[in-house]
Amino acid sequence: MAPAAPAATAVPGPSYVRTPTIAFLSSLAVDRALAPFDLAGSIAHAEMLGRTGIVPPAEAQAIVRGLRTIAGEIATGTFPWRTDLEDVHTNVEVRLTELLGPVGGKLHTARSRNDQIALDERLYLRAAIAGLGRRLLELQRALVDRAAEERATPMPGYTHLQRAQPGALGHHLLAHFWRFDRDLDRLAATAARASVSPLGAGALLGTTLPIDPAYVAERLGFARAFENSLDAVSDRDYFAELLFDLALLAVHASALGEEIVLFSSREFAFLDRTPDLGSGSSAMPQKRNPDVAELVRGKTGRAVGDLLALLTTLKGLPLAYDRDLQEDKGPVLDAVASVEGTLEALAVLVGKLRFDRARLTSAASDPELYATDVAEHLVAGGRTFRQAHEAVAAALGPGTTALSPDEVRRRLLALAPGLGAALDPKAASDRRISPGGPGETPLARQFALAHARLEERQRSLSSLARSVDDVDRLVREAPA
Ligand code: ARG
Repeated sequence: MAPAAPAATAVPGPSYVRTPTIAFLSSLAVDRALAPFDLAGSIAHAEMLGRTGIVPPAEAQAIVRGLRTIAGEIATGTFPWRTDLEDVHTNVEVRLTELLGPVGGKLHTARSRNDQIALDERLYLRAAIAGLGRRLLELQRALVDRAAEERATPMPGYTHLQRAQPGALGHHLLAHFWRFDRDLDRLAATAARASVSPLGAGALLGTTLPIDPAYVAERLGFARAFENSLDAVSDRDYFAELLFDLALLAVHASALGEEIVLFSSREFAFLDRTPDLGSGSSAMPQKRNPDVAELVRGKTGRAVGDLLALLTTLKGLPLAYDRDLQEDKGPVLDAVASVEGTLEALAVLVGKLRFDRARLTSAASDPELYATDVAEHLVAGGRTFRQAHEAVAAALGPGTTALSPDEVRRRLLALAPGLGAALDPKAASDRRISPGGPGETPLARQFALAHARLEERQRSLSSLARSVDDVDRLVREAPA
């Protein structure tokens, strides 16, 4: 149902204020979250209008002051949001005109909501990535810390979820670190590619007025202004990329969540079932459920769905702006909030995991894990790998009837009597000194690389955070 018509205002407002289907057309519920970015963009635009003389400088300054007043109202919750107005842009412009009179009507000179929203979104994306990056780094630090603590803890390595070879828990945890490192790299690349100001593209084909898009780009900390006005107002690659980055990040988080669920089950029991993992059951008094890890896994559906939603909206749109594009913000805000929550919860969870070292050591002592080591020992003695593989396979039999661990050990040692001491989880893991392996030397190198990478990422995130702060200051700054 359409909301009641607004009280008539004495000041002239934009002509797109009222429509019979406002509730359907409205994006205010979603895009009001973009208000700080909308104001920053408008301030830079008003400054440009004053500098180029398109608007008399004194009026441009009055507009900037008015916009800062509005920023204050929004920050303190006193801004009179009007749900009968379509979006955040209209709300700001109508309020500005209330504050300044007809001069407020000059703000939108040489601009359209089409280039305005694209600008708001790119500013939002930068801030969102700065925030997500910070959270991701916290999770990665938690992982490296846990990996360092569990550096010497033996653990079976798995393929097909079958015990495969003797490894180390620290090495296993670092594998998750590197996945997240690529996620952070992707987010940074997305932010860098999105560092283009679309303002000045107008509705689609620029303007006849003497604007200066480069000034706006610089003022807002963008690397440059757009090349093609049609592309500038229709491009949503930055959001599609962000959603892909978040979907894959969520998939990575989900894989870690799944391992926490598995490892805390009675069947694995590699993790102590502490209350920190989640909650008890309302029905079964004995239960300790790994709820946090399960929800980390479960929320992935959202991020993946959000990516699909945006791509579907974008498919087949003719140039340039189409109103379909208004639907881009919902999926992005949803995915950002969901992934941010996931990262925060997961960082806390990882910090609280308590591993059962005895249980892990016992699992890694399963002599079947040493079959490859024995084969490689035979290779070192001159057999081809194929011959060695066959000899070990023959010694262990068809694998259909389970041999006792003692029997497996006896048969392996019969093939490789010299290996006795090496058939121990710690020794066997440490013998894996090939690059990137769990052996002491490559693992030390990997820890050094991980620490260096964390510092490097921290530096590049700080520079992104500085541009976010600069834009923030632009909105709050006292007028010159
Ligand atoms: N609310 C719109 C969006 O989010 C802003 C641009 C509207 N442009 C227009 N010509 N109606 O995309």
